[in-house]
Amino acid sequence: MGVKTVMRTLCICLRIVGISVPNLKQRGESATLTCDYDLEGGKLYSVKWYRDNEEFYRFMPRLRPPQHAHKLDGVKVDLEKSTARRVHLRDLTLKSRGLYRCEVSEEAPSFHSAQAEAFIEVYYFPRETPRITGHDHAYKLNEPLDVNCSSAKSFPAPDLQWLIDGQKITDRSWLIVYGAMPAPQGLLVSTLGLRAPTNHRMKLKCVATIGTHRRERTATIGKLFYL
Ligand SMILES: *[C@@H]1O[C@H](CO)[C@@H](O)[C@H](O)[C@H]1NC(C)=O
Repeated sequence: MGVKTVMRTLCICLRIVGISVPNLKQRGESATLTCDYDLEGGKLYSVKWYRDNEEFYRFMPRLRPPQHAHKLDGVKVDLEKSTARRVHLRDLTLKSRGLYRCEVSEEAPSFHSAQAEAFIEVYYFPRETPRITGHDHAYKLNEPLDVNCSSAKSFPAPDLQWLIDGQKITDRSWLIVYGAMPAPQGLLVSTLGLRAPTNHRMKLKCVATIGTHRRERTATIGKLFYL
């Protein structure tokens, strides 16, 4: 046992220098995933790529051709742009999201292997701006404003924010959080209600965001009907 421990300490092993995958991509985009390794003098036997433990690409220099791709839902490998150190994926869908792992193995006699993993999140945020409803009817005197803002069908659920005359509404008692409702194709619609006093002409703005991406819509409450 003592000898084994010493040998392990002295072993100059294969190691993964780094895995690089984009952590956030829009549906329809392509992505290049790289797995950088140092064989430390050993010979490459195989590089395999997995999404959520399912293999979708392997590179084995001894085989002709050396590359092989397996079809997975949401994972389309472009073989021409893929090598022993990188794999190129086309037409990402929401099903492409997951944990991506590369596994590198050396040939005999060492059979060393090493692996690294990283998560890819895929989002979908259409150009469509959020929708404001409930603002275009006659409000009576002292009747509170009662409006909703709903995002376009997106993924993940966009964050919503209300502004009145340029002021962010942070008073939680004015906001009604309806949360995210499911839509077809795994998409989500966020809705945020606003109940606020109506005592003057108001400019409403609703802002939807996913990460640094932003869509907004404005509406004006112009004429209040004092019935
Ligand atoms: C706001 O949306 C919620 C949930 O869909 C709905 O129940 C409510 O009636 C809506 N209110 C207005 C003013 O549109």
